[in-house]
Amino acid sequence: MARREIMKIGAEILARKAAPVEAIDNGIKTLAQDMVETMHAAPGIGLAAPQVDSAVRLITVDLSVGEKLEDLYILVNPEITAQEGSCVREEGCLSVPEVWEKVTRPQKVTVRALDLEGREQIVEAEDLLARALCHEIDHLNGTLFVDRLSPLKRSLIRKKFKKAAAKKA
Ligand code: NI
Repeated sequence: MARREIMKIGAEILARKAAPVEAIDNGIKTLAQDMVETMHAAPGIGLAAPQVDSAVRLITVDLSVGEKLEDLYILVNPEITAQEGSCVREEGCLSVPEVWEKVTRPQKVTVRALDLEGREQIVEAEDLLARALCHEIDHLNGTLFVDRLSPLKRSLIRKKFKKAAAKKA
C-alpha cells in the first residue's frame, strides 16, 4: 500500500466525469487500498479516485477515519438510487484545503454499488454518511463542493487557489 498525492482544485481531472470501472482487477484493488491509506493519513472521511489522479468511479468513505472497520466503505461504480429530505451543514474537501462552507445535501440517500468482490451493495445512509457519499459521488461527476455554492463564493474560492498556485510556480 502507498499513499498517493491528492490533486487540488484547478486540476483538470477534478472537473472531468470519471469512467465506470469495467473490471475489478488488481489495479483497481491496489488503487482502493491506496485510497484508504491516503484518506486515513490526510486525515479525511472520504476520497474519490479522481482526487488521486485516477478518473474511475471508485470512492472510499470512513466516518471513523480508521477507528472502526465496519465504518469503511469501498464502493465501485456507486449510484444514488433514492434520496430524501435536505440538510445544510459545513463541508470541506481534501482537494480544497482549509475551506469550509455550508452546503445543502439530501438528509437520506440510498446508494447502489459493487464491493471489491463484485457483489452488489445497497447502502442506506443518513446525515453525515449521506453527505459524505453525495460529496464523493459528486467528485466522480467532476463536481466539487464549491460548485454547489453561490457563483460569487465559488469564484472567490477559485481565484484564491489560482493565486496560490501562481505563487508556487
Ligand atoms: Ni472532496
